[in-house]
Amino acid sequence: MIEIRNAGKKYQQGAREVHALRNVSLSITSGEFLSIMGPSGSGKSTLLNLIGGLDQPTSGEIFMDGRPLHGISDDELTLIRRRRVGFIFQFFNLLPILTAIENVSLPILLDGVPFSRIRPRAVQLLEQMGLGERTDHRPEQLSGGEMQRVAIARALITEPAVLLADEPTGNLDSHTSEEILMLLSNLNEQGQTIVMVTHDSKAAAYGTRVITLRDGALAEDVSLGGGRS
Ligand SMILES: Nc1ncnc2c1ncn2[C@@H]1O[C@H](COP(=O)(O)OP(=O)(O)O)[C@@H](O)[C@H]1O
Ligand SMILES: [Mg+2]
Repeated sequence: MIEIRNAGKKYQQGAREVHALRNVSLSITSGEFLSIMGPSGSGKSTLLNLIGGLDQPTSGEIFMDGRPLHGISDDELTLIRRRRVGFIFQFFNLLPILTAIENVSLPILLDGVPFSRIRPRAVQLLEQMGLGERTDHRPEQLSGGEMQRVAIARALITEPAVLLADEPTGNLDSHTSEEILMLLSNLNEQGQTIVMVTHDSKAAAYGTRVITLRDGALAEDVSLGGGRS
């Protein structure tokens, strides 16, 4: 589903050139739950952003469903990002002035679809996330775990081919982290393809496959057959 060939990413930091990614090749299959591990600065977020079309590689190729994500126009990339990819982040990135259901609906409202047509699906997703009683709450009225569940519902409303998560439990206590990871695991069992960045090996173990980056290069690639903990 996602094919990465010899992808590299260089950043200019003043006079210094930083190789955030070096020659990474990776195939991500539909239905996988891929965890990306590695120390801080090893290129995890850079790789996730390339997969999600938030950024482009400086060398190599990336394909989603056979279509290139490299060397295409910003407009084309924006469309793929909005229609094919759902993102969740460490700090949730909800809009504080919007209620839960408004936050969840926003990606489709931006496409010009009226709220009345989006509402039933948004309610359904919030119910699926266990937030049926919280649809009209603003982020400040919600706990961290609840905010992340709203963010997951928002990421799913476009029915993305892949759900991308950058340290989704990095700002949550261990009990709430487990709840969020179970939720992601259940979504994956229902067929949702997921790519998750984490530096926590316990979190990574919820995936079906774990890759490890070191200094921007792919250092390990392990499939976790069955037996989830
Ligand atoms: N926008 C940027 N400009 C310059 N350097 C960057 C930028 N983004 C990331 N880097 C550098 O690229 C390397 C990898 O960063 P990142 O992908 O964020 O790592 P991780 O998510 O594993 O902590 C780091 O050395 C970081 O400083
Ligand atoms: Mg990061």
